[in-house]
Amino acid sequence: MKKKIYFLFACVILIACTISPQYKGVESVSPIHTEVMERPKGQNHVLGLISLKIDTVRIGFIGLGGRGSSAVWRYPFIPGVKIVALCDLHPDRVENSQKVLDAANLPRAAEYSGSKDAWRDLCERDDIDLVYIATDWENHAKMMIYAMEQGKHVACEVPAAMTMKEIWDVVNTAERTQKHCMQLENCVYDFFELTTLNMAQQGVFGEILHAEGAYIHDLIGSNDWERYESDWRMKYNKEYKGDIYPTHGFGPVCQVLNIHRGDKLNYLVAMDTKPVNIPDYLIEKRGMDRDSAYNFQNGQNTMTIIRTEKEKTIHLQHDVSSPRPYSRMYQVSGTKGFAQKYPIEGYAFDGKNFADNNVPDMENLTPHSFVSEDVKKILMDQYKHPIHKELEEQAKKVGGHGGMDFIMDYRLIYCLRNGLPLDMDVYDLAEWCCIAELSRISIENNSMPVAIPDFTRGHWNDLQEYRHSFVQE
Ligand SMILES: NC(=O)c1ccc[n+]([C@@H]2O[C@H](COP(=O)([O-])OP(=O)(O)OC[C@H]3O[C@@H](n4cnc5c(N)ncnc54)[C@H](O)[C@@H]3O)[C@@H](O)[C@H]2O)c1
Repeated sequence: MKKKIYFLFACVILIACTISPQYKGVESVSPIHTEVMERPKGQNHVLGLISLKIDTVRIGFIGLGGRGSSAVWRYPFIPGVKIVALCDLHPDRVENSQKVLDAANLPRAAEYSGSKDAWRDLCERDDIDLVYIATDWENHAKMMIYAMEQGKHVACEVPAAMTMKEIWDVVNTAERTQKHCMQLENCVYDFFELTTLNMAQQGVFGEILHAEGAYIHDLIGSNDWERYESDWRMKYNKEYKGDIYPTHGFGPVCQVLNIHRGDKLNYLVAMDTKPVNIPDYLIEKRGMDRDSAYNFQNGQNTMTIIRTEKEKTIHLQHDVSSPRPYSRMYQVSGTKGFAQKYPIEGYAFDGKNFADNNVPDMENLTPHSFVSEDVKKILMDQYKHPIHKELEEQAKKVGGHGGMDFIMDYRLIYCLRNGLPLDMDVYDLAEWCCIAELSRISIENNSMPVAIPDFTRGHWNDLQEYRHSFVQE
């Protein structure tokens, strides 16, 4: 009997050893770490940064291509601003924006043009409070840094920084100068995203465990590739793997998950497909030879998965050439409900969990399908964000991606005029932009996990929950 027991015991040990991964040569791996710059002595973080109220915000614009020129068009609709200076490589683009000022009966601005360094003179002026940057990606970081060093607040188009070195330099400059440094991420003001954020903040989805975001935009189908100055976007895609345009999908998701306001991004893994449609486009449309066209880095579809300190997950996608409908995904999955913007906009709940009594028949709703359009409309009205309550009508009239661009600009100026923290700080900029280089590192290392640094350097848990600031009546 004893022998049998020993035999059985030995068998159990043997089986356990066989199935245990450590006996199959599997080793646990630590994420790849990139350099984390220490905060220089005497320098403070800029969480919740406030600056003196600015009655009239005096602005200098750098970059008046597709995006910058439309910003100049929107600004005359915002109270409390003065457009002081305009800068672009091309004098005709500066002149076109001057005409916008003429049409709005505003004084013409000072002009900077004709040289790739003229923007520095704009930054050095002593009658500017805010430098608004809408150039190509590779100019952003150096322009932001120089503007802050000249004592200006900065707002910069997306992605505001492309490498970890640039990101750390921008964070350090913002901290050293104590200047606002906001990335111009418009999608966080979209009507669905902001309403959903409000619902999430009121507990409608329970605890949010998973979220998705994307930039899926067929820039071949939309004929966009040929319109960029000196082909900057194609050149960047040709040279770099990774999710190089993450912020539209990632920004709203980070806000809903309170990133660096009680949670933090810990690590990511990324994977991509081979590129096909852009190389083929380069052959067909630009007559490039096959070898050069296929010497192309950015994958047709790039997927990134992120895990947070509070054990949440985020899935991101980047695809700028597959023939498929535009999508930022924006999916929010909680313990009590679900929201999705693309491909079909909707909400799903277990009605029994829903504390709200104003929605007819709520207790009969099951999460297996979306709520009806009528119920969705009731919910979206009921949870309309205070920012939308104030600005929706005007935003839809002024426009800019359906109004969200106007809301973004309005909020930036509102916060500066009232001495409030801006809606997006330099750590948001860092977190949303670091995906570009870190996803590339993961892809180039067989999808190994890559650590995402805590750009607040120890303060990610000081604030609890993402909140917009308002003037207290
Ligand atoms: N938020 C959004 O929805 C959205 C939409 C489109 C583009 N963007 C972003 O906006 C930025 C600009 O994109 P775009 O489509 O307007 O590009 P664009 O090529 O149309 O415009 C860039 C402009 O910058 C100017 N420029 C370049 N170098 C300069 C320099 N040294 N000094 C002065 N001017 C300089 C160019 O002459 C050009 O007019 C990019 O970061 C892009 O990703 C954002």
